[in-house]
Amino acid sequence: MTPRTGSPRAAGARPAQPTVQDGAAALNEVLEAVPFACAAFDRATGALVASNSRFEGDLGTLPGFAQRDALLATLYGDLTGDARGEEVRAPGSGRWYALHWRDLDCGTRALSLLTAVDISERIETLDSHKSQQEKLLFTSRMMSVGEMAATLAHELNQPLAAIVNYLNGSLRLVDQAGGPVQVERALQAARTQAEHASAVIARVREFVRAREPRRDAQELPLIVDTVLELLRLEAERQQLRIELALAPGLPAVYADRVMVEQVLLNLVKNAIEAMREVPAAQRGLRIEARVNLDGEVEVRVCDRGPGLSQAESEQLFSPFYTTKSDGLGIGLAICRSIIEYHEGRLFFEAREGGGSVFGFTLPPPDRRL
Ligand SMILES: Nc1ncnc2c1ncn2[C@@H]1O[C@H](COP(=O)(O)OP(=O)(O)O)[C@@H](O)[C@H]1O
Ligand SMILES: [Mg+2]
Repeated sequence: MTPRTGSPRAAGARPAQPTVQDGAAALNEVLEAVPFACAAFDRATGALVASNSRFEGDLGTLPGFAQRDALLATLYGDLTGDARGEEVRAPGSGRWYALHWRDLDCGTRALSLLTAVDISERIETLDSHKSQQEKLLFTSRMMSVGEMAATLAHELNQPLAAIVNYLNGSLRLVDQAGGPVQVERALQAARTQAEHASAVIARVREFVRAREPRRDAQELPLIVDTVLELLRLEAERQQLRIELALAPGLPAVYADRVMVEQVLLNLVKNAIEAMREVPAAQRGLRIEARVNLDGEVEVRVCDRGPGLSQAESEQLFSPFYTTKSDGLGIGLAICRSIIEYHEGRLFFEAREGGGSVFGFTLPPPDRRL
């Protein structure tokens, strides 16, 4: 590449006293040699004095391009929140430019020189790099969930143990020639547990095989009912009141039902476990659901346990973090993967009056269609 210097072709024809037009023509030629969109504006009036063809092709198509302030209004005006410092996005073409302003004194004229470097590719690379990283993070979470799936079998011990208890109880009832109604109820309860356990196993298998989970419109109150039914015995054993506060007319959520049941079950189990040492009279579990300000359905599980210190709350979601002798420490990590998969948010906050709140959000189905 040979750098262009001045304009040897015009040299011979130049008159002794350069005119204003000549000055503009020379300036045009200099600008033309700049490999970026480039334009000179009169400093006093803001009027366009000279520009190169890149400018004409790119920014020269924008409304008000011939006036510095009008051009800036176009570039910055309807871009609130979208401008990155001196990096602006041109409306229409959507291309990104880095703007540089320089004062330039050209003979008697005071000019402002604008260079606009097209940085769209760089921005796109950055953006796609960012989303690649997000994908990577998500995949690695998914993988750790996959690895943990084996351990998850442990979580299934509880419903399975409950099934055995129910069955033993039923046998005893039969033995004592008890009423068939009770037998039936016990068997139904056993079946609920068994069905849930196998649904979980099936779903985890699917999950690990990285097949798309099935998401469709789900009624949250039904999910809450299923989970409460699974925990009813446990709650009775601990003399625990479960208070429900589901806002009326909740919209459906776009979710995989079994996965969300698993999340809620984990959170409620943690809440119950957190209140093991709390005197019965002070135990209080409350499940709330409402539509939040972003239009998402927000579910909150509130307990009256000891709450969490700052240090504890920072580790909560790390896999294998547990403070329980019989804990696995994967419940919350799995909950987070599931909720993030659903484009929701899992959060923790201190509960007013003592205890903790664990909650999550789920998008309504209309956002997905
Ligand atoms: N509701 C809660 N109140 C206080 N601490 C909690 C609560 N839920 C979870 N935690 C803390 O987070 C840790 C991790 O929870 P989790 O991932 O479900 O694993 P695990 O229940 O097996 O310990 C728990 O051991 C406990 O220290
Ligand atoms: Mg747990």
